[in-house]
Amino acid sequence: MILHTISELKEYIKNWKKKGLIIGLVPTMGALHEGHKSLIEKSVGQCDKTVVSVFVNPIQFCPGEDLEKYPRTLEADNELCENIGADVVFAPSPREMYGEETILSNDFLTYVIPPYFYVNKLCGKSRVGHFDGVCTVVNKLFNIVQPDYAFFGQKDAQQLIIIKKMVKDLNIPVEIVSCPIVRESSGLALSSRNKYLKDEEKDSALALSKILFNIKACYAKGITDIEALKETAYPYLNETHNLEYLEFLDAETLKEKVIADNNTRVFIAVKIGDVRLIDNITLGVR
Ligand code: PAJ
Repeated sequence: MILHTISELKEYIKNWKKKGLIIGLVPTMGALHEGHKSLIEKSVGQCDKTVVSVFVNPIQFCPGEDLEKYPRTLEADNELCENIGADVVFAPSPREMYGEETILSNDFLTYVIPPYFYVNKLCGKSRVGHFDGVCTVVNKLFNIVQPDYAFFGQKDAQQLIIIKKMVKDLNIPVEIVSCPIVRESSGLALSSRNKYLKDEEKDSALALSKILFNIKACYAKGITDIEALKETAYPYLNETHNLEYLEFLDAETLKEKVIADNNTRVFIAVKIGDVRLIDNITLGVR
């Protein structure tokens, strides 16, 4: 069932809360794939009621990014959610979420600003303001749905860490559930943006996961020097790849690592043509 308005959704939430039901929220921007599916399945398995939000959030897109062309497949998304057993797909319009005056100018919106330390690196460096938009919309969704659990993928590990920090810092009464990355059999991490890749670019995109798997294998063999581990990436890169970053950070705190250890997460972002892809892996067992 698709609901487009906050007031309709709130009626359902009120009734569920009255009955003491456990509510799960899976925030998405739609164009749902197996990665999203794994989050929704987890929520359906763990909660009495599951709300999947499908909202291409304009305020998390930077100027020049793909807001207009971002894939919108609401009917198919709803079908997938119903098949898995989700109870509601919440698909508001930007006007419904932000109101008329914010549609005209963001100067009228109250933002949730995550800490500079977490934002001033990885994707936050090139996507200035992106995580302000993410935290603001996720906070609004938390207030509307009041979920017991909210499910986020490690595919967007920086986002997941920032949201956990927001929840802690603002005492938001929700438990964040971290879900593993779902990959194609080729290793490519599933992403709604993979739809933009032409066939030859898709081959090129395999470099990201190959680099990460190889780094993990080298670490398992005993290499802990980060420069040496970074060096192993270059043979996988060619003229089709524009490497934005390859970083070794603490998986919880995003502090830079001096030597690689089990708490290290390796983050990569590469542009292939116009398509920007990200991936990451932990060096430990998690
Ligand atoms: P979106 O890119 O649609 O992703 C929604 C959720 O699905 C995120 O938690 C993301 O990490 C997870 N996800 C995407 N691909 C995945 C994969 N291959 N394996 C596991 N999980 C995966 O992230 C957003 O939307 C937005 O920023 C949002 C949080 C909804 C705020 O607008």
